[in-house]
Amino acid sequence: MTKRNYTDPSILSSDITPESVFLNRRSLIKSATVAAVAGSTAIPSTSASAGQAAEQPLNYAPQEEHPLTSEQTPIEAVTSYNNFYEFGTDKSDPARHAHTMTTDPWSVKVGGLVANPGELHLEDLLSGFDLEERIYRFRCVEAWSMVVPWVGFPLADLLTRFEPLSEGRFVEFKTLHRPGEMRGTRSFTSVIDWPYREGLRLDEAMHPLTLMAVGLYGKTLPNQNGAPLRLVVPWKYGFKSIKSIVEINVTAEQPQTSWQSLQPSEYGFYANVNPEVDHPRWSQRYERRLPSSIFKPNRVPTLAFNGYEAEVASLYQGMDLSRYY
Ligand code: MTE
Repeated sequence: MTKRNYTDPSILSSDITPESVFLNRRSLIKSATVAAVAGSTAIPSTSASAGQAAEQPLNYAPQEEHPLTSEQTPIEAVTSYNNFYEFGTDKSDPARHAHTMTTDPWSVKVGGLVANPGELHLEDLLSGFDLEERIYRFRCVEAWSMVVPWVGFPLADLLTRFEPLSEGRFVEFKTLHRPGEMRGTRSFTSVIDWPYREGLRLDEAMHPLTLMAVGLYGKTLPNQNGAPLRLVVPWKYGFKSIKSIVEINVTAEQPQTSWQSLQPSEYGFYANVNPEVDHPRWSQRYERRLPSSIFKPNRVPTLAFNGYEAEVASLYQGMDLSRYY
């Protein structure tokens, strides 16, 4: 299999990771990769996410050097402070309750306006694509953020296999809806019309930064982060990055999305990170970079397109971004 590494063009020489951190990380990754290549699937999880199936090491091409390596949010924060309303609305609910979701067997149906509709199974997702590491900023619309080393493959690689037709202009995604395993969907206070849905324009979906993540920190995704397969669109607010996907359809019309349907004046279809356009109830100029506390808020300025302006701004040329928020 040919391995590729996406290289972030905005590397700053001031951001070089200390060698000790770098070497330690490399050796950890190497041992995880060797274990995976040797066919081992029984390495116990070292992550802090107790109470769920152990995450498995993945065989992937690590980022050799990346400007964000030294800013990575600790795995404990990434896996314990989550939004996954299927398991509750509190940030700690997904880590406590998402272990109830069965993720193996798993399959994703791909259809709509494609020449070659079909299904992908968990095994195809983990071994049928070239996995690579992508260290991305991740910015929630609620004004908190993280830097996460995801493992995955470009969504474009998946879509291309199913051959989108020329009439296709959008892509729709749906999350698993299994109320017996998802206590949040059974709650009488639940506001979302399940299943959780998201969508992208086809050109956004085909953009090389748009990732189908199957892991983080070198291992398969913990359930609370959207196992076994989630979207990561780093220049958009986090709600676009739909978790635990079971269905993908190419469509001609712009799909209905969960948050836009719920509150269209607050959550748009585009949801590009934009410090110039405030949420009606709070400013989007700054964000709290996790881990953060009252004593150490770790407040950082929000970047246009979450720092990916050079790569993606051309997708929106001529559009009024305060109207198409
Ligand atoms: N996907 C589903 N199915 N359900 C959700 O509630 N929340 C979204 C997004 N994807 C959500 C979802 C929101 S609001 C955010 S900020 C991110 O997941 C959070 O991802 P994380 O918990 O891995 O940080």
